[in-house]
Amino acid sequence: MEKLLIKGGNQLSGKITCSGAKNAALPMISSTILSDEKVTLKNLPYLQDITTMFELLGSMGADILLDEDMNFTIESNNLKDIEARYELVKTMRASILVLGPLLAKYGKARIALPGGCAIGSRPVNYHLDSLRQMGAEIVLKNGYIEASAKSLKGADIRFDGVTVTGTENLMMAATLAEGKTTLLNVAKEPEIADLADMLNSMGAKIDGAGSDKITIQGVEKLSGTSFEIPADRIEAGTYLAAAAVTKGDIKIEGINPNRLMKVIDKLINTGAKVDYDEDSISFIMTNDIPDPVDITTAPFPEFPTDMQAQFSVINAISSGTANIYETIFENRFMHILELNRMGCDISVNGNHAIIKGVKSLYGAEVMATDLRASASLILAGLCAKGETVVDRIYHIDRGYERIEEKLNYLGANIVRLPS
Ligand code: EPU
Repeated sequence: MEKLLIKGGNQLSGKITCSGAKNAALPMISSTILSDEKVTLKNLPYLQDITTMFELLGSMGADILLDEDMNFTIESNNLKDIEARYELVKTMRASILVLGPLLAKYGKARIALPGGCAIGSRPVNYHLDSLRQMGAEIVLKNGYIEASAKSLKGADIRFDGVTVTGTENLMMAATLAEGKTTLLNVAKEPEIADLADMLNSMGAKIDGAGSDKITIQGVEKLSGTSFEIPADRIEAGTYLAAAAVTKGDIKIEGINPNRLMKVIDKLINTGAKVDYDEDSISFIMTNDIPDPVDITTAPFPEFPTDMQAQFSVINAISSGTANIYETIFENRFMHILELNRMGCDISVNGNHAIIKGVKSLYGAEVMATDLRASASLILAGLCAKGETVVDRIYHIDRGYERIEEKLNYLGANIVRLPS
């Protein structure tokens, strides 16, 4: 297994460009199933999760072509198989995103039921209950979700809890349903509005994505489109956090700061100076030591759970004590045990982490457990004394494009060690 060797202590400075957003790209690739024509996606990030989604569509019979401009053209019309097998689903839970499109277009789907994962139990009951309200028959059999529907019918659906991929699945399914669907208590993450923009460019009739209530008027078919994946707000936030722990001075280009306002506010509270225009963010850490910041994760527009681990590191080297409450996933503190092995002073009580700032961290051999946990270990390595080796970095390759290259470009010293 490949590892990253990080020599800590370098200040980050310079300019980088944000890659396309993983969590926007995954539902967009899946939505190509709804189209009768070819769809071109631009600015797709080069990530393991994207490869897995392509493998999934490919296994069902989609044609995927990469052109000389690095754009992908996907033709998912006439799939010969409607099954997402366990081998793929177990490596990427977002495979559930093919359920809504398959049901809407082919009237059936067989998807391996995702199990628990490193950050929590992550059931998909909201997806299934809502699709049932649209007329789908769904049974769980031999570890698979077996779903069928002669035709999906528009419905008024209120989600029992806010779910990002659940909202996306239902929004996609409703585009080809009979009549009007209203979705209430939906996720408002920017990736939902991005997906709606793409679907509308294919002829869908979606209103309100990004707000509490989404309405979708079903249409008979969707056409092709050419669509650019917007920048990854969590990638941008992670590099800003890396600058915060290295007393850095960086600029991130290609990112709309409105997608990251709660993170920017918290960075300012640590003592950083943050300036932005409509597509870039400039960051200077003006404090010698970051001030501690309390954080409670919650659905957008509140503080994202996907930035919680990175802020654990900022707090770990802060001048005081901070409280972090994780309200989205029940087990998203796996990085804490590894961070404590690097000299952090963090205790966890249920969904509450109490982080006491320490003068310095020291390098150690640590193990990544999930994507954002890996990012936090890299950040800790960047500000630790000595060398840190982060093992199991396949987690990081799922969601950060060329992370060591981008960090080294900003002045870090990271080497990828072969397995
Ligand atoms: N939940 C249920 N039942 C459901 C669906 C969700 O109980 O049917 C619970 C989950 O267990 C969790 C909460 O609701 O406690 C929110 O889960 P959600 O469904 O919103 O998460 P997701 O759609 O599976 C997406 C992102 C995650 C991100 C979360 C929260 C994608 C592909 N994944 O997951 O991204 O953390 O929303 O914002 O969009 C990451 O990129 O590292 C990542 C984990």
